[in-house]
Amino acid sequence: MANEPNNTLINLRHLKTWFPIRRGVVGRTVGHIRAVDDVSLEIHDGETVGLVGESGCGKTTLGRTLLGLETATAGEVWFEGTDLLTLSERQMRPHRRKLQMIFQDPFSSLNPRMTVLDIVTEGAALHGLIQGSREGEARRLLQEVGLGDDAMHRYPHEFSGGQRQRLGIARALSVQPTFIVCDEAVSALDVSVQAQVINLLMDLRERRGLSYLFISHDLSVVKLISHRIAVMYLGRVVESGPSREVIEEPLHPYTKALVSAIPVPGRDRTDRIVLEGEIPSPANPPSGCAFHPRCPSAMAMCSQMWPTEREIDGRRACCHLYDA
Ligand SMILES: Nc1ncnc2c1ncn2[C@@H]1O[C@H](COP(=O)(O)OP(=O)(O)OP(=O)(O)O)[C@@H](O)[C@H]1O
Ligand SMILES: [Mg+2]
Repeated sequence: MANEPNNTLINLRHLKTWFPIRRGVVGRTVGHIRAVDDVSLEIHDGETVGLVGESGCGKTTLGRTLLGLETATAGEVWFEGTDLLTLSERQMRPHRRKLQMIFQDPFSSLNPRMTVLDIVTEGAALHGLIQGSREGEARRLLQEVGLGDDAMHRYPHEFSGGQRQRLGIARALSVQPTFIVCDEAVSALDVSVQAQVINLLMDLRERRGLSYLFISHDLSVVKLISHRIAVMYLGRVVESGPSREVIEEPLHPYTKALVSAIPVPGRDRTDRIVLEGEIPSPANPPSGCAFHPRCPSAMAMCSQMWPTEREIDGRRACCHLYDA
């Protein structure tokens, strides 16, 4: 993809988000759901990093933790030279505007009783970012996301799914962010509408110099938009690297299985790797490499030791196949 970005905007270091499991009337903590378990990941200026993995592997929790919407258990979240996890609520405020999120279902996050005008200017007004009139600001934003002026005085329920997603994008843009977490932002849309919204996101990235963490369980969508891809399994990133390499020559057996499930137009896939069983519980992860019970390449040591992350040709993978 064009203009290879290289300045680090976000740097996650050994990030953990564990949710306590409470039992009994006094709510004693009896264990933890390790939703995010020691994730290190960099996102560069102007870059889109795709985050993929099966349902429940911790993608949303990772996105929410880096925006400060979940409390991290441990680790660091560096943004513009500051570790956000060390900041108080008040110190966090000026950073919060720059870090936004777009959701799968904008309908549930758009207030049904507010007009589009209010929805897309509320945040900017609060932060004192509006130069002229609110109408003028709304008109510019709506135009930027491909909606007409007539949208301004209507309510969210009057729009189609694709248009609502555009409204969600306009609202996120209204506070002039530098980084946006797109959490399954196109997953509920028809394929043709999906392509339009992905194109819009790519245009906006270019025009505004944005960076994205693009979360999806669907690798075929992620590969359309991402410079780099990180693959998550049970709270951990098991492989990351430039999109083309990850898709064309996956290193980790889990990535290989995900890639083999991408549909190829016009023909049935005969090379599909079907994984046995379900993703295990993050409250009680398997010993050693958490993927070993489902891994077609598992060896004896895989059930005993978590593999060290290896750097291989500019990519990173956590798998005993690559032990030196
Ligand atoms: N607030 C919470 N309290 C307790 N457990 C939670 C909470 N949020 C998420 N979890 C658990 O953490 C794990 C990771 O969930 P998360 O929603 O991050 O996964 P995901 O990869 O986004 O899944 P999906 O693809 O279905 O959206 C799951 O086991 C989930 O049940
Ligand atoms: Mg999710």
